[in-house]
Amino acid sequence: MSGDARKTAEGLAYLSGFGNEHSSEAVPGALPEGRNSPQRAPLGLYAEQLSGTAFTEPRAHNRRSWLYRIRPSAAHPAFTRTENGSIRTAPFTESVPDPNRLRWNPLPEPPAGTDFLRGLWTLGGNGDATQRTGIAVHLYHANSSMDRVFSDADGELLIVPEHGGLLLRTEFGLLHVEPGHVALVPRGVRFRVELLDASARGYVCENYGAPFQLPDLGPIGANGLANARDFRAPVAAYEEIEGPVEVVNKFCGNLWTATYDHSPLDVVAWHGNHVPYAYDLRRFNVLGTISYDHPDPSIFTVLTSPSDTPGLAGVDFVVFGPRWLVGEDTFRPPYFHRNVMSEYMGLIEGAYDAKAEGFVPGGGSLHNMMSAHGPDRETFDRASTAELRPHKVDDGLAFMFETRWPVTLTAQAARAEHLQRGYDDVWQGLERHFRPLH
Ligand SMILES: [Fe+2]
Repeated sequence: MSGDARKTAEGLAYLSGFGNEHSSEAVPGALPEGRNSPQRAPLGLYAEQLSGTAFTEPRAHNRRSWLYRIRPSAAHPAFTRTENGSIRTAPFTESVPDPNRLRWNPLPEPPAGTDFLRGLWTLGGNGDATQRTGIAVHLYHANSSMDRVFSDADGELLIVPEHGGLLLRTEFGLLHVEPGHVALVPRGVRFRVELLDASARGYVCENYGAPFQLPDLGPIGANGLANARDFRAPVAAYEEIEGPVEVVNKFCGNLWTATYDHSPLDVVAWHGNHVPYAYDLRRFNVLGTISYDHPDPSIFTVLTSPSDTPGLAGVDFVVFGPRWLVGEDTFRPPYFHRNVMSEYMGLIEGAYDAKAEGFVPGGGSLHNMMSAHGPDRETFDRASTAELRPHKVDDGLAFMFETRWPVTLTAQAARAEHLQRGYDDVWQGLERHFRPLH
């Protein structure tokens, strides 16, 4: 894509906080004053509400936006089924849940002409999309921009680029993300992904559950972790395409297609809080120990999808970015552990401080509920004997989708050529050091 595409993504507004109202208009006067749905919306536009939560959910959780558009979304022909490609949806029943530690190399190169949607490849997930619970873990590898438009009724999409920049043309405007940034497209929002480089690769958490929100900070206070002001919302931008535009709709696990006679990315103004956004992970304010012990990784939570049980997330998005390690008399890498939550990890760049090798950018690992994991032998030996000077970990950017239910693999993930054989071996050779005093 040309440099022009990057330029059009400039001038993004900043979200001042979740749950707050935001507004943007591409043409002055397009946003009605004082009411959401006047008898005649300004400039001959149609007014339309997009609800991301039930009308009656508490105000603090309620998500909805009002869109002022050239044509209402209702003006479309019937959808018909189309192939799902490599996309799978919960409930995941193609394999039995696997207690083994698993790790994958990056997705192989796709055929020429693969766009973001065709390049989506589902690794697994949990819950049930029709019940609005659980997640899917997808990867993508694309080498062509979309010329169609996509929307996902099943969940919101947290896109984590690992290679190649993306320009998301959404109903709300443009979002430009590079590796190290994330983008979130709310449930039901139409968008098109254009590539800013020859190819693009990354990860997607499709969250069927409650929308991601910032975690509470408790004793941390009013600031820290991901700061609300660093989340960028798009400014309104519309396109006027009169002619055939394919629109693909993911609904209860299947892809459906319709050919519109216009582009549905025709929103001239909007206000609300059901809004796409982007975030630069390097802006994450990393907190950690300044005395001893390795904090639990929840200290690195960027976004959380809460459940009905306080503190129990449907999924947390957690980032392991550059940070200083200063803990005294402390084994500084992530400790050995077993976790009731299930952990899918990916690597955006560099290396991860709990693994010497084998965990590479674009690859991923899955440590399901109660599977035992932690540093490999080489990391354990090194960290156990290291001189504990203040040390900056600055050579990697890893993340985790940590979810309350085990992740069940798709058949394609369980049988993938790029599934590493012998991952268990990284924990071989952890010697017995026990020396009873008597
Ligand atoms: Fe873990």
